[in-house]
Amino acid sequence: MSIIEKIKKLKKEKNAIILTHCYQNIEIDEVSDFVGDSLYLSRAAAKTNADIIVFAGVYFMAQSAKLLSPQKKVFLPNMNSGCLMADMIDVNNLRLFKRQNPDIPVVCYINSTAEVKSECDICCTSSNALKIIESLNEPKVLFVPDTYLGKWAQTKLKNVEVITFNGFCPTHLRIRVDDIKNARKKYPNAVILTHPECHSEVAKLSDFVGSTKEIMEFAVKSDKKQFVIATEKGVVDRLIRDNKLNNMNKEFILINENIICPNMKHNTLEDIYNVLQNENNEIFIDENIAQKARRCIDKMLNVK
Ligand code: 13P
Ligand code: SF4
Repeated sequence: MSIIEKIKKLKKEKNAIILTHCYQNIEIDEVSDFVGDSLYLSRAAAKTNADIIVFAGVYFMAQSAKLLSPQKKVFLPNMNSGCLMADMIDVNNLRLFKRQNPDIPVVCYINSTAEVKSECDICCTSSNALKIIESLNEPKVLFVPDTYLGKWAQTKLKNVEVITFNGFCPTHLRIRVDDIKNARKKYPNAVILTHPECHSEVAKLSDFVGSTKEIMEFAVKSDKKQFVIATEKGVVDRLIRDNKLNNMNKEFILINENIICPNMKHNTLEDIYNVLQNENNEIFIDENIAQKARRCIDKMLNVK
């Protein structure tokens, strides 16, 4: 039996589902029940009736799934899968940031630990950051940990001051202004689609800035034929695959071959099989922290 067949069989036996972020190695899609960006996967985690969730993503994503499904067992296939941006803030530097900017609500990007979420007012993802900040209806908000997503939101929101923490994504920051300029020269007819975790100068030169899901939807719906994608390679791999499957006759080009999040690539099919079989790498969250962190995510999910 192939590893894929073995995983599918175990999933059935254990009433398990696999949630997969679209930056994961593409072969994992074959055993996945849901593949998408972090907002889509958070919602899927909240709705499922499975007994077990295997989260093919990074640690904070598996923690978020556990927060939303406390009665289920949640596993991360490979415990080395952390998010470098999420690790840039902990409760100590969050508290300092709040003390330096008192009495201002804190919006917390989902790329953060449960501990950090437990001390923030509301969560957001890159798909809904603008809507969430606006929903607070406040003159100022603190935004943690990603300074660039916060700065990008500021360019779109005129009635609120967004004060950002100084975290960032090392993978998205590898995309340079010169990459965009070179792509414009090389592919003059292409549309350049960029993730808001990129540097503000990169975002400014792009044709469209959006979350993973928004980038994928834009590319599929557009009547243009050539796209340069300024985000993680997994997105481009999936666009190329779906383009072939659906005969869309479009071309997708990764802005720079180095845009690979190393932490997203740790999970393998073997790791998924092992956690399903042995039930190791389970995610546990202290109940006190979980209650407060869950409130932070629930508030986001309740914003229509
Ligand atoms: P999305 O919210 O677009 O899925 O992004 C998650 C992430 O880690 C981006 O680097
Ligand atoms: Fe974290 Fe960046 Fe990797 Fe996304 S791409 S998981 S923000 S390190």
